[in-house]
Amino acid sequence: MELNAKRIVLGVTGGIAAYKAAELVRLLGKQGADVQVAMTEGATHFVTTTTFQALSGKAVFTDQWDQRMPNAMAHIDLSRAADLILVAPASADFLARIAHGFADDLLSTMVLARACPLLVAPAMNLQMWQNPATQRNVAQLAADGVQLLGPASGEQACGEVGAGRMLEPEEILEEVIAFFTPKVLAGRKVVITAGPTFEAIDPVRGITNLSSGRMGYALARAARQAGAQVTLVSGPVAFAAPQGVDRINVRSALEMHAAVMGAVGAADIFIGVAAVADYRVANAAEHKLKKDTGGIPPIELVENPDILAEVAALPAAPFCVGFAAESRNLEDYAQAKRKKKNIPLIAGNLIQDGFGGDDNRLVLFDDAGVHPLTPAPKSVLARQLVEHIAHMTGNTDAHD
Ligand code: C5P
Repeated sequence: MELNAKRIVLGVTGGIAAYKAAELVRLLGKQGADVQVAMTEGATHFVTTTTFQALSGKAVFTDQWDQRMPNAMAHIDLSRAADLILVAPASADFLARIAHGFADDLLSTMVLARACPLLVAPAMNLQMWQNPATQRNVAQLAADGVQLLGPASGEQACGEVGAGRMLEPEEILEEVIAFFTPKVLAGRKVVITAGPTFEAIDPVRGITNLSSGRMGYALARAARQAGAQVTLVSGPVAFAAPQGVDRINVRSALEMHAAVMGAVGAADIFIGVAAVADYRVANAAEHKLKKDTGGIPPIELVENPDILAEVAALPAAPFCVGFAAESRNLEDYAQAKRKKKNIPLIAGNLIQDGFGGDDNRLVLFDDAGVHPLTPAPKSVLARQLVEHIAHMTGNTDAHD
């Protein structure tokens, strides 16, 4: 659970996207957050308090004169108890009011009285979003340290298409998790390879490695949440790119090599997680091979470049991290690879422990020795590896 015991006040204001806030409550709760919902009067015209009460398991507050607080100070008590106030959806009117310090209902008063950070997810019609008044208010809020989530572009409830849609609940959840993640890689540029490569034999057949891409994608997400600017060079996998990560899609090892070499010049850290095919087909056929044309077609293999070793040998090489998936003798093989490729850190795992699944068992090998991590979901291991990298690259806030 990535939001364990985090106390979040979710403010819901009047807009059709209020119905999506119901799903957001559920998603936040599933990650362990303690969610207190506060609604504006306008929001109650779209979704009832009963919906939010049922989903959050707590009475919903709408009124600054609420008699349930013994001291009649709902705005103070609720905002003081919060680690974060998140307003989703945030209407144009609500943004205008908080940009100017209004405190004319419970939610705006809580925002003004808060001692915690504020995230807002705007949701409104395209013209309302583009209106200079809204843009002024948003710029003012950003200058005041309020973090804006979105809005996204797309189809709107009014039928128009453009900017102003609220981010989807899953996207807001990702931003909330990122918000609570220590920024141990703030300002760093990280390039990560992930997934398998596919080496064509003909237009429909090829040689590949088994790799789901889960670990590389989990690392890209963790690095981005830790404040890094992440480029993910990905072989063919079934996942969407993690939020906020630039993905370059490639197929073959040569394409991955070219994409990495193009991206790594500006990088501080390179993490090779991809299962790169060691060989490619030298005589790949332009047209589909036919079975009945006599004899078994010969496949000639040539070696692919070792991307990680090449990056590590660059004159101004970034800090390089490798992966070693082995079926036995993990320590010997992983340490030998680390020396051969001349890299400071390698993460090893036994194939039988985590291949293709959500959980894994990782052991880190560096000059200081062997660091076994407790078996855990790949998302947790990714965060620990990011912290280890931050520690090794001199971020004094990080610890492993
Ligand atoms: O050499 P081996 O494949 O066992 O080493 C694994 C590590 O090297 C992984 O980090 C992998 O991403 C990287 N690698 C690479 N290019 C290759 C082969 C492996 O970057 N051609």
